[in-house]
Amino acid sequence: MPDVIAVIPQPAVVETTGDASFELTEATTVVVDGRPDLIGIAVLAADLLGRVGGRAVEVRYAENGADDIVRLRLVESLPAGDEAYRLTSRKGRIDLEARTPAGLVRAIVTLRQLLVAAPGGVLRVPAVRIEDAPRYQWRGLSVDVARHFLPVRDLKVVIGLMAHYKLNVLHLHLTDDQGWRLHVRSRPLLTRLSSSTSVDGDPGGFYTAEDYADLVAYGAVRGVRVVPEVDVPGHVNAATHAYGELNPTGEPTETYTGIEVGFSRLHADLPATGAFLTDVFSDVAAMTPGEYVHIGGDEVLTMEADEYATLVAAASAAVRAAGKKVVGWQEIAHTPLEPGTVVQYWDTRVDPAPFVAAAQAGALLLMSPGSKAYLDMKYDASTDLGLEWAGHIELRDAYDWEPSTLIEGVPAESVIGVEAAVWTETLRDLPALTQMLLPRLAAIAEVAWSAPERRDWDDFRTRVGRQAPFWDRLGLSWYASPQVDWTR
Ligand code: ACM
Repeated sequence: MPDVIAVIPQPAVVETTGDASFELTEATTVVVDGRPDLIGIAVLAADLLGRVGGRAVEVRYAENGADDIVRLRLVESLPAGDEAYRLTSRKGRIDLEARTPAGLVRAIVTLRQLLVAAPGGVLRVPAVRIEDAPRYQWRGLSVDVARHFLPVRDLKVVIGLMAHYKLNVLHLHLTDDQGWRLHVRSRPLLTRLSSSTSVDGDPGGFYTAEDYADLVAYGAVRGVRVVPEVDVPGHVNAATHAYGELNPTGEPTETYTGIEVGFSRLHADLPATGAFLTDVFSDVAAMTPGEYVHIGGDEVLTMEADEYATLVAAASAAVRAAGKKVVGWQEIAHTPLEPGTVVQYWDTRVDPAPFVAAAQAGALLLMSPGSKAYLDMKYDASTDLGLEWAGHIELRDAYDWEPSTLIEGVPAESVIGVEAAVWTETLRDLPALTQMLLPRLAAIAEVAWSAPERRDWDDFRTRVGRQAPFWDRLGLSWYASPQVDWTR
């Protein structure tokens, strides 16, 4: 029986070469040049292979003619793009080549997905040549840690899953009406007074600066950047509870643990507001090694357009003054935007004209259509968890859509990428979260990575069906969509 090749997302080129397959043995080692930026990646490769194989795999810094090696190397001879890589495998040797360390991380994940258990407990890698590069540079997942808090150890599981499907941006929705989840040095009352609450009176929590740095570093090794979101000028009850000066009365608002949206707001004419925005966004930017900071901007239902634009401009200016680029939810397209601003499309029920105009003015569109990519939507009417305001999203719905033509009139070059989102009004812990992410996250990852001509529902169905043993081995809860024949 030929070995199964079932990589998600689908690589650009996969060719079987007809050679004998590679076998993971006690002698298998990872070999890499002893450069500081590559050693960590080699250790990651050895760790992943060791975990699959059930025994430690060593890293060495010279080939010395050895057999059974996994060779990691930087090369120039690959198509442009930081994440492009090539993988060739045959008996005794696997070569992983990329232009950058980030590309090698993608190659390692592909290798892990190629490992198949052969009779006798042997782990094999079929003899193949894979050439691969992503379609979109931004392949994200937004996680709402405000409605329900997710501790660092759980977010690391999410980062591991993201890396497994070559997603590269973890967007954290860190603040909302129900809680404030990141310690901000200049504004200590935010976490002191507003982090212990969650939806329905569930326990809260927050990330210290050290927790956050740990998460950022854990993601960086796995090719996942963190984009922090502080949502303004609406969704701010946690802030107005901690700092009464942000309210016209001067008094703190009450805590909020319901799930209504749109009622809380900042006020442009209060002297405390500008200082608050500057302090918070400069501190958050300073904790962020990545290029982007997200300012929110969604669902401000009780504010005139001028005041909204003033507050979006103030938040954006603070982000830019700290050397970062701005991301905001689609509503910011109604305000003047600097070129290079990322507008995150989510509500498909609205007039597309402002997005077309924003793209013409140099903004980039990030595609998170609620009806496809909001992974807190129920799979069908019988799903216990989740919401359904954007409809039901079965696996095929999350797979069968095309980002470049989603908004009529927005040119394909203005689309920076694709991001799934998971809101946690009804999701109180990691099992609930992964039940909604899996299998749909794999579908979104393929939409974001693979060229349209490489995407095929029937083929994806078969490949995703083989993911179940991996999720089970990790102990993750997932949804057995009836659209797939699952391998158990
Ligand atoms: C959103 O779903 N309010 C961005």
